[in-house]
Amino acid sequence: MDLFAHKDILKNKIENTIEVKNPATQEILAYIKKTDKDVLAEIINKADKAQKEWANILSEERADILMRFYYLMLEHKDILAEIMTKEQGKPISEAQGEIIYAASFIKWFAQQARHVCGDIMESKMQGQRLMTIKQPIGVCAAITPWNFPSAMITRKIAPALASGCAIIVKSASLTPLSAYALELLAKEAGIPKDVFVVVNGDSNVVSDVLCGSEIIRKLSFTGSTEVGAQLYAKCAKTIKKLSMELGGNAPFIVFDDANLQEAIEGIMASKFRNSGQTCVCANRIYVQSGIYSKLCVELEKAMRGLKVGNGLENGVNQGPLINQNALEKVKEHIADALKKGAKLLYGGKEHRLGGTYFEPTLLCDVESNMLVAKEETFGPLAPIFKFNTEEEVIAMANDTEFGLAAYFFTQDYKRQWRLAESLEYGMVGINTGLISNEVAPFGGVKHSGLGREGSKYGLEEYMELKYLCLSLK
Ligand code: SIN
Repeated sequence: MDLFAHKDILKNKIENTIEVKNPATQEILAYIKKTDKDVLAEIINKADKAQKEWANILSEERADILMRFYYLMLEHKDILAEIMTKEQGKPISEAQGEIIYAASFIKWFAQQARHVCGDIMESKMQGQRLMTIKQPIGVCAAITPWNFPSAMITRKIAPALASGCAIIVKSASLTPLSAYALELLAKEAGIPKDVFVVVNGDSNVVSDVLCGSEIIRKLSFTGSTEVGAQLYAKCAKTIKKLSMELGGNAPFIVFDDANLQEAIEGIMASKFRNSGQTCVCANRIYVQSGIYSKLCVELEKAMRGLKVGNGLENGVNQGPLINQNALEKVKEHIADALKKGAKLLYGGKEHRLGGTYFEPTLLCDVESNMLVAKEETFGPLAPIFKFNTEEEVIAMANDTEFGLAAYFFTQDYKRQWRLAESLEYGMVGINTGLISNEVAPFGGVKHSGLGREGSKYGLEEYMELKYLCLSLK
């Protein structure tokens, strides 16, 4: 795949471009043209026209095109993964996994496209028929993050395209190459050029245009709660439909009766996926007093097996953090916890490789007055809190404005139900640390967002329900 075939990707710097760097080596990979405001307005107008034609073709035809897109993604899996590792830093095996995950949304929604249907309701009156139909919402916009440069795009574009919407994606400036690669493949698959377009530029400039547009009827955003709230406000004037997948502060609870080895595997998978840079990462690990010391020892053993390095190298499973700000936040959380009495069991500092590499870090005796209890670390820090009772840990787990994902390990089936129902979160992993897939509804409550992505519910987010009342008199 020749990325430089895309008109917005350049080998050499010119004015008004974004530098794309490899966080593992600091090598400049490419320059991206910023989308000019007038060009963006034209893209929106063209999408408006193209959407109507796209919506008008049979859903079966849209599904076939999406399936071609899916197969093209699989065919290009290795190169897409390499592009991702180079611009984002995640290990190549994780990048390959993300491409499969990203492609799964395309396949899932291609299949869902053919199952859209309305209802016929019993009338209240003689000579009247009441019905609903579902229609695509129109032109949509998506603003996507750097931590999953492909999957967070396909999770939005697949339902949009399947339902007959057009979609304009502002990709993260740190990881735009994966986005443009998807756009190239989508065109090759037969998705009309104005129906899915990637744009870039200064976030505020682009989001002002997207959010202020009357043509764009829906915005889907994945990112921080702070930015989500700003976008929410910006969309108020044009009353757009919104999907927001925002920050998390996931509790990960291990009870005395848990299978310890499975709990360790769950923590490792949840905490260290993408070097801790996911919204659903275990952020606070609560361990019951009877199993506490043993778990700390076993977790440290497992963490010693993590290999930090350039994601393109064999055996590496922890890449660099995305940038210096990310690294500073991890350092801040560790320093704050140590100052307030936490104990360092493993790691704790910048990795000897330099740059933005950080040592996987284990802290125990962490308390709720520490920063790490309140904020998402978004890095490879595992903080262990001790608890005694179920009631106590439910209160601790829910003591946050966030509500994205929560996890717990227990073999007591009655407790499984109690916890599942008491945790104020959109998603709950029970005896597992990995919950994401295309079949399940992904999303949070409280400050973690609005709406659901993936699953059968994901399509509804891109459709309007229209009610028809027919008089036969
Ligand atoms: C995220 O971190 O925003 C998404 C993680 C996932 O899809 O599992």
